[in-house]
Amino acid sequence: MKRIVAPSILSADFGNLERDIKMIDRSAAEWVHIDVMDGLFVPNISFGFPVMKPVRRATAKVLDVHLMIVEPEKYVKRFVEAGADYVTFHHEACANPRAAIADIKAAGAKAGVSVKPATPVEAIFDYLSELDMVLIMSVEPGFGGQSFMPHSLDKVRALRKEIEEKGYNCLIEIDGGISAKNAREVFDAGVDVIVAGSSVFGAEDQEQAILNILNA
Ligand code: DX5
Ligand code: ZN
Repeated sequence: MKRIVAPSILSADFGNLERDIKMIDRSAAEWVHIDVMDGLFVPNISFGFPVMKPVRRATAKVLDVHLMIVEPEKYVKRFVEAGADYVTFHHEACANPRAAIADIKAAGAKAGVSVKPATPVEAIFDYLSELDMVLIMSVEPGFGGQSFMPHSLDKVRALRKEIEEKGYNCLIEIDGGISAKNAREVFDAGVDVIVAGSSVFGAEDQEQAILNILNA
């Protein structure tokens, strides 16, 4: 299993976005996590396409786009064109996940699906074979800085078991409430990619905070 850290720029300083992306670029983090919120799927609005461009320009790292929007199928292609390497949409927001996955792949990116805390992970087993990644939300999507929900690790274990049994090539990512304090048990449960927002950008030494998660 891999160990990847994906700092979430939701907690970055948008007045100094390039500086914060360059910090990730220098750091041990392999991915940059980009949270897109529409005010409908979640009770918050973040940013969209115009922010993708400067981020893409500032780093060659993997851009991991997390769409918290309704009808994601309408926009997945544009996010790939804007530079996304992974596009993840929510199972709860999409009427035809298979079509959205096919569109993401046809546009040249990897496809992920995410489940909210109350959605059983088994809900996506139907089309797991088509996915490059599953993102387990360990907080209610919408805001950074919330507390980690421990039951999300049961979902990780169930998903890991299914992926191993079926022999799928699919990463497991987790998002919300993670710092160096709980990163070890999260990786041990079978997670490949940890998203971390406030624990990275709220740290005095942000590069060190990333290392502390990686080496937890
Ligand atoms: C929440 C977002 C997260 C958020 C995580 O809806 O999907 O990516 O930035 O923030 P922390 O790490 O602060 O919980
Ligand atoms: Zn996210």
